[in-house]
Order: sequence, then structure tokens, then C-alpha cells
Amino acid sequence: MRVLVTGSSGLIGSAAVAFFARMGCDVVGVDNNMRREFFGPKGDTSYTLRHLQAQYRSFLHLDLDIRDRAGVQRLFELGSFELIVHAAAQPSHDLAARRPFDDFDVNAGGTLNLLEACRQFAPEAVFTFLSTNKVYGDSPNHLPLVELPTRYDFADPRQRRGIDEQQPIDHCLHSVFGASKVAADLMVQEYGRYFGLKTGVFRGGCLTGPAHCGVELHGFLNYLVRTALVAGDYTVYGYGGKQVRDQIHAEDVIAALWAFAQAPRPGEAYNIGGGAENAASLIECVDRIEQLSGMRPKLQFGGKQRKGDHCVYYSDLSKLQAHYPSWRLTRSLDEILLEQIETLKPRSKTVLTPTAPVLAAEQQTKPPAKSKRVAWVYPAYSQARIDEEEGAVARLCADGYQVTACGIPCERWYAFPELEQRYRAGDPGLLQAYEQLGEQLRSCDVLLAAGGSMLHPEFLAQFAGVSVFCSADDPENSALLSRPIAPHFDVQLVINPSCLDSYRSWGCGHVENIFPGLRPDRIAKGVTTASILNEARELDIALCCERCFQLSDRAQRVETLVQSFPQAYVRGPGWPQGQEPQTSIYPRARIGWNLHNSTGPCNTRFLELPANGVLQLCDNPEQIGRWFEPGVEIVGFESLEHCIELTQYYLQHEDERRAIAAAGHQRVLRDYTEERWFARMLEAVARFEASRDASPLPPRMAAVRS
Ligand SMILES: NC(=O)c1ccc[n+]([C@@H]2O[C@H](COP(=O)([O-])OP(=O)(O)OC[C@H]3O[C@@H](n4cnc5c(N)ncnc54)[C@H](O)[C@@H]3O)[C@@H](O)[C@H]2O)c1
Repeated sequence: MRVLVTGSSGLIGSAAVAFFARMGCDVVGVDNNMRREFFGPKGDTSYTLRHLQAQYRSFLHLDLDIRDRAGVQRLFELGSFELIVHAAAQPSHDLAARRPFDDFDVNAGGTLNLLEACRQFAPEAVFTFLSTNKVYGDSPNHLPLVELPTRYDFADPRQRRGIDEQQPIDHCLHSVFGASKVAADLMVQEYGRYFGLKTGVFRGGCLTGPAHCGVELHGFLNYLVRTALVAGDYTVYGYGGKQVRDQIHAEDVIAALWAFAQAPRPGEAYNIGGGAENAASLIECVDRIEQLSGMRPKLQFGGKQRKGDHCVYYSDLSKLQAHYPSWRLTRSLDEILLEQIETLKPRSKTVLTPTAPVLAAEQQTKPPAKSKRVAWVYPAYSQARIDEEEGAVARLCADGYQVTACGIPCERWYAFPELEQRYRAGDPGLLQAYEQLGEQLRSCDVLLAAGGSMLHPEFLAQFAGVSVFCSADDPENSALLSRPIAPHFDVQLVINPSCLDSYRSWGCGHVENIFPGLRPDRIAKGVTTASILNEARELDIALCCERCFQLSDRAQRVETLVQSFPQAYVRGPGWPQGQEPQTSIYPRARIGWNLHNSTGPCNTRFLELPANGVLQLCDNPEQIGRWFEPGVEIVGFESLEHCIELTQYYLQHEDERRAIAAAGHQRVLRDYTEERWFARMLEAVARFEASRDASPLPPRMAAVRS
């Protein structure tokens, strides 16, 4: 797909470039760095441009002024665009009042230039436009408000979902900026309704993100964080700092545009912001920043209230969510703030948010091929497992994937010799399950099998789509479970990196290392970055694992550690104190040990500990850096003595412990969710398809079938 992004070096434009380039689109960005001209050197976006150019080879930048009508026409004539994200703008009220011609020429005239060129040269394209809540002028100020201790709010509880799209735009004061955006907003709607173009208007609340170059006149939250981190002066313009705004991360904005692009509704307008959930007053934001960073700005309350400025504004997101149910906010206000604090503060050892170590940036947020119809096959040996898998599939479907859960009824996993014997003997239960599955597979492109899902190679051979084997086995136990079956699949996704060579040696055709995702119910309610950073925990150390002696000496190693730390809370099958759900232990624990039988580190603990805000001390230190940044999001140990030393250190350095635990938590939420895991599997399928299409010989099973 060819995507045009205007304002591509700005906050929203740069997020759009990254999103669509990662998705594999050709992206043309248009930006003339007019932000620098508007706001001076602090508004300069050339750094962002250089970063995008270095990062994305499919990104082409054009230094074009959207006021240049002939230039814009030429761009569309040559561009063959299928999607336009129009985010170039003069974005400030105050500046508009000083430079009304520039403001109107860019915001209204530039938008019309783009619309008309689109109509002439790309009438089938989807055209999304970043409008603003200022189109409602100061009409929200006319609603009854109440003054609360730290904020104003709507007096009528029915208004507490926020401002919806029925809010009038007449009979109110807009500011010069608001008026130029109204002109553009209406024109974009009109090109949808009158000319039938696939246009969509998105009226932003406070849009923000790490790429924001906040300045005093534009980019409230980012500028507030910048000022806080140097304890600088911040002038509050009116309302005593109790004015309320809703914050949304730029990536959530782009996700909404993408949802619209896939099912456009011509001429629709949507409010988009952080909604009631992410709404806070200025002084509440200052308090949050102080809680999260230890720093605050010096508030100067003398500023004159800006004309037309909202007292309370937060977006009612109901319409957007009703039209695009898979879209939702993915970042809380605290998470947005933490990301900005990390981006803006001078780097130190205990940074709060990680820089990505191993997963390439492209892999982290690349939107997957949601058009694939996927059958997820798993062994249905208990109702709990069925519920778990059905729940996961329902969530993935809500995210826009096309997945069907296909459980194979059984009492337990069968190792291959037993499967083979049952298949040959015509086990009625197994054959009936295969028959049902065969029906389901007829309408699927991809068969994704969980390890141990008991598919016999002869049954599998009948499937025409791409078959994928995904397994978390350890080298100690994969011979019977995976070896006889895995090579019969097209793609083998192996969670434990120590098993990669084995899979290759078995003749598997397309082996990749994949990292799992964590199901949301594995994270205890109430665990947030803020709670991890601020709340005390009662258990010093926790370890949840099986006490097994056959596979390794792990039980003895744990006992050695417990001698040094008798307060350690060790639970699991085989331990004298019995079992307890992890979600009731981890949220109370400060440090979590992660010990493996031999190789690791990809067990469930590896994700559950940080997800629940526990500082993870993990063995296999040479491997952990593939997924977490050592010393920042996780801590690795070489030996039991080293583990003891580190445990003592972090028990005595609570701030450092909390910072690492919080960073680990954020990392899991960002990169290791169930949705990201599923997306990664589909990306592997796409890589397999690309390599198969480029190769004359089908890689599938060559070694096994010859
Ligand atoms: N950031 C917010 O809080 C917010 C809130 C509501 C609406 N919006 C809207 O979202 C859109 C994007 O906002 P943003 O925060 O990314 O702004 P931004 O200032 O970060 O980015 C806008 C970009 O447009 C470029 N630009 C300006 N004039 C141009 C011209 N004549 N030709 C080419 N490029 C030009 C600028 O150089 C800048 O890089 C704007 O339409 C804005 O009104 C933003």
C-alpha cells in the first residue's frame, strides 16, 4: 500500500510513518519543517526526520509546503496513494492570532489543496484528517461545571463520558486557530458527503507521545514534563491549574486511523482523545509527574486565561468505539507520562522505561496480516484449558484477527508413539476430532498448532494452507513430543532458543525463535506502573515452581537459596507449603527468583514476574538480553552466590528495585502481550510465504518426505 503522510516530522505524522513503514507500506512523507518557523529552534523537527530516514527504508521524505497547490497536485499525480494521513498543520491558538494568514493558509488552504488533488488523482484513496476539539469552540465551557479540590468537571453525571460529536460548533468563540480548523474539518466532511471520497475527520483532544517537541504554546503535557525534569517555571494560564484535558498516545491515534482506513465511512467525524479514563487537570498531571519522576515544575499562576480555552474537555469515545469495536486505548495516563519522562530525562542507570534490546523495532509494533483466517489447534484436555483458549481467541477476534479455536478432545497429551498407535488403530475419539477439524480447516489459510496438539502427520498432509508448529519444549523433553511431528509442519516456531539447533537437525524447513505473550488474566488486577513504583510489598522474595527432582537439581538449588533467605515464599506442586495462584503471590512480592531446570529463560515466570511488578532475578544471564534489557528491566545471575548477593543488594535498594520492576512491567505490556505474540506468529508465516515464493522448491518437509 502507498501511504501519504503530511506533517510527517511532527508528533502524529512521525508516528504514522513508523506505523505504516513497519507494516510494509511505501510511505511518502511531506513536511517543510514549518514548525521550526512557527516556534523557533525548540520546534525544530529535523531530528525526527533524520531518525525516520535512518530507520525506514520504505520512507521517502519530500520537503513540500502543502500551501503549494501546484506542488501538491504533482505529488498526487505521481503518487498513486491509497491512504492519506493529513497531519500537517499550524497547531497553536496563540500563534494563529498573531499570524492569521499563515494559520488559515496552512490549516484550511493546505487541506483544500490536498482534498482537491485527492479527488482528481486518487479518488479511491482513504483520506484521514487530524482535526481538533477546538472546532467546538468554547461551547463546552457553557455546560454546567463543578469545582472539585483538584479539578473542574462536568456537573451533570450524564456528561461524564465526555464531549460527543453532537456538541454544537455554532454560537461560540473558537479562536482564530479553531476557526481555520473548522473550515478544514467541514471541507473534509464535505468531500466525503458531496464528492463521495472516503474521508474521515478525527477531532483530537490532547495528542501526545515521546516524539513530541512540546513548546510553551503547543504540546501541553510534553512541555510540562520537560519543564518538570529541570524544575523550571511553568506558567498556568487561568482556571487555577484545574483545567482538565484528556491525553492519548500518538500510536493509539494512528491505530484509530488504520481502523477507519480498513472500513471507511465517508464524511464521518469522530472525537478522539484519552477520554474520561485519561483525563486529568494540570495540577493533577504535575502531581503524577512528581510521583513518577520525583521532579515537578515551579507553577506560576499569574498567566492570563487564554481566550476560548476549554475549562474541561475530554472526549466521549463511544462513537469511535461503536464504529470500530476493535479499537481501544492501550496507554494509561501514567504510562504516557512515564514514557515521556524516560525519553526526556538524562539517561541514568535506573531508567524507568527500556530502550528495546533485541526485538527489532519493526517487529514490536508491526501490524500483522489480519486478513489471514487462522485455525488455532490445541489439546482440549480440561475445561479450564478450553476456557483459556476460547477466551484468548475471543480477545484476538475483538482485535480484528480471524481466528477459530479448535480443541482436540483428549484426557491428556499423547506422546508420539501413543498418538501413532491410536491413529493406526482408528481410535474413534481421535478420528472424530480429526473429522471435525478437517471441516474447520477447509475455510482456513493457516493452521497454528500448540505444541502437543496431537496432529498426526498423515492428517496434517491433507491441509493445503500454511501449517505452523509452535512449541515451548525444553531440550530435555522434546524428543518424544516434538521431534516426530514438528518437521511435518511448514513453519516451526520455537520458544526456547536452546532447542533451535535440534529442530534444524531434524530437517524442519522454516525454524524461527519466537517469544510467547502473556495472557491478560496472568496480571493481577491493580498492578500498574504507578503502584509498582509507589506501593510497598509485603513479601521479600517469591518463587512459584514445581519441586521436581527428575529433570535437574533445581529443587536443591532452591533449598540452598532458602537457607540464606528463610523469608522466601516458595510455592508450587511438591513444596511443603503447597500451591497458591501466582496472581495472588506476585503482586505482593518484591523480588522473584527465576531458576530453570537447565536452559532458559522462556518459561511463564519470565513474563509473569515483571508483568506483576516483581523484580526478576533470573539465571541463564547470557540469554535474557534477547528479550529484556539486563540491569534495566531484569537482572541476571551467574551462580547461586551471585543470586544471593543480588538479592541482598536489591532488598536494601528499594528505589532501584522498583524502577527495574516498573520497567520490566512496561516492557511486558508493550512487547509481550497475547496480541503481540499472535502478530509475531503471523509475521513468521508471512516470512515463510515470502521465502517459499522466492524458492523453486517447496521447503515444506523436504528432508522428512524424501
Ligand atoms: N498535538 C495535539 O495535542 C493535537 C490536538 C488536537 C489536534 N491536533 C492536530 O493533529 C495534527 C498533528 O498535530 P501534531 O501535534 O502532530 O503537530 P506538529 O506540529 O507536531 O506536526 C505538524 C507538522 O506539520 C508540519 N507543517 C506545518 N506546516 C506545514 C506546511 N505548510 N507544509 C508541510 N508541512 C507543514 C510541521 O513542520 C510539523 O512537523 C494537527 O492537525 C493538529 O491540529 C493535535
